[in-house]
This record gives sequence, structure tokens and C-alpha cells, in this order.
Amino acid sequence: MIDTLHAENLTYTRGSRKLIDDLNVTLYPGEMVALIGPNGAGKSTLLRLLTGFLPADSGECRLGQQALTEWDRAKLAQRRAVMRQQNVMTFSQPAEDVVAMGRAPWPSLHSASIVQQVMAMTGCDELAKRDYRQLSGGEQQRVQLARVLSQLWQDDAPQGWLFLDEPTSALDLYWQQQTLRLLHKLTRQPRLSVCAVVHDLNLASLWADRILLLHQGKLVAQGTPQEVMTEDVLTRWYQADVQVTRNEENGRPHIQLRQ
Ligand SMILES: Nc1ncnc2c1ncn2[C@@H]1O[C@H](COP(=O)(O)OP(=O)(O)O)[C@@H](O)[C@H]1O
Ligand SMILES: [Mg+2]
Repeated sequence: MIDTLHAENLTYTRGSRKLIDDLNVTLYPGEMVALIGPNGAGKSTLLRLLTGFLPADSGECRLGQQALTEWDRAKLAQRRAVMRQQNVMTFSQPAEDVVAMGRAPWPSLHSASIVQQVMAMTGCDELAKRDYRQLSGGEQQRVQLARVLSQLWQDDAPQGWLFLDEPTSALDLYWQQQTLRLLHKLTRQPRLSVCAVVHDLNLASLWADRILLLHQGKLVAQGTPQEVMTEDVLTRWYQADVQVTRNEENGRPHIQLRQ
């Protein structure tokens, strides 16, 4: 069983700007949550606060009964993994070693077979021996996804909290679909929860259970895709001229720009 994540009155200020402004949110076990919002809304900052990489100026994040700041770092690394937007490697390393880095919190526990398994799931097996730095942006993203899945692997599946910052931004159509299908399937188990910053509103609409819309450091809308992805809400917060229709197959909103 995994814990609920609560953030209360989170505020993060830099200079005179409140990048995150008195924000409250709860993330529930087994959910797939998409965090959306215009450029500079504070999505990456919020993800860093929710994962304990940045200390809030005020407010608190609790995972289960304990504040993130009180968690033992090694235990926390077994419970939650984070895929950042940029993952720069400074030295040459085969892709499989990058994935194996995910196993650091679990000394000796069947790491080789887990690494192999997640690389197969994420379509990385052909990249195993290649130098990570020479991979394309999309290939690197898949290797990073394999790394964070291997970090959370216990028994026969990933368990805990997975935070991803724009995990599909460099992926082609096929890999966008494969990646979101995989994450969605893994959250149905339901020992894995996913919170991902997703730029493409249609991907968020198709796969998220719940959408959080951030604007200038505040959560301005949250709910199911049907509740959040409306023309009124999107036009108001993105200032874009959009048309929202219903996907006939699944009833989910389909967002298009007007010409
Ligand atoms: N350390 C910092 N100091 C000052 N401004 C920052 C810092 N980090 C981010 N920002 C600014 O805060 C805003 C939110 O950034 P970010 O969370 O990266 O937005 P998003 O991921 O939604 O595009 C942006 O305007 C960014 O320029
Ligand atoms: Mg960002």
C-alpha cells in the first residue's frame, strides 16, 4: 500500500515573485495525475517542492504521516522517483548503466534482471550498450524512464510515487503512446502513482485520471479531463483560441487550436 501525498499552503518565493503561491493539493494512491499550465506557470518548481528537492519557504509536504523533510533519504528514494526535464551526463556511460543507477537505493536486490526487464518494457533493450550521451533526445528520455521505473521496482512491479517532468516532450507519436499506455497500465495495479507534467493537452486528456491546472503558481482548476478541458477554462488560462470536442471512442475531450 502506498501513501497519500498532501501539500498544504506551499509557498516558494524568489525575489519579489511567488513562484508557488499558497498551494494546497492532495495526490492519492494509484492515481495518474497530469500537471498542466502555460509556460512559466511553476509546474517544474511545484514538482521539485512535491519531491523534496526544493524546500518550501512556508507550508509543508507530507508523504503518509511524515513531512518530506523528515523522511530518511534512503527510504524516500525507495518510495518515490523523479524524472527531471534535463538529465545531462558529463561522462561516457552505456545506457544500461544509467538505468542501473536507478537501483542504487536497493543494494544487490536482483538488479540485473530488473534492469533488463524495465529496459524491455520501455523499448530500450537495443540501446543497452550505446553511450548515453550519443543517444537522441527521445532515446535518452526512454532510458531515463527506465531508470526511474527500475528505482521503484519491488517484487514484480514498480511501487510508490513516480514524478515526471514532461516525460514525452522528445518522443515521437509511437513512443508517446507506448509511454503513456505503459504508465497508465502500471497505475492500474495500483501500487504505483504517477504525477507528470504534460505539455500536450491531448495526451493529458487521454490518459490522466485527474488534471491539475497551474497558473502563476496557483492551482486554478482541477478535476477529471472532462471537468478541466473545456473551451472556457483553457481559453481563460492559456489565452489561446481553442476548440474542444468529444472523442467519440472514449468520451474524453479533444483539444484543437482554431486556425
Ligand atoms: N531559481 C529561480 N529564481 C528565479 N526565478 C525562477 C527560478 N526558478 C524558476 N523561476 C521562474 O519561475 C517561473 C516558473 O518556472 P517553472 O516552474 O520552471 O515553470 P514551468 O515548468 O511551469 O514552465 C518562471 O517564470 C521561471 O523563470
Ligand atoms: Mg517546466
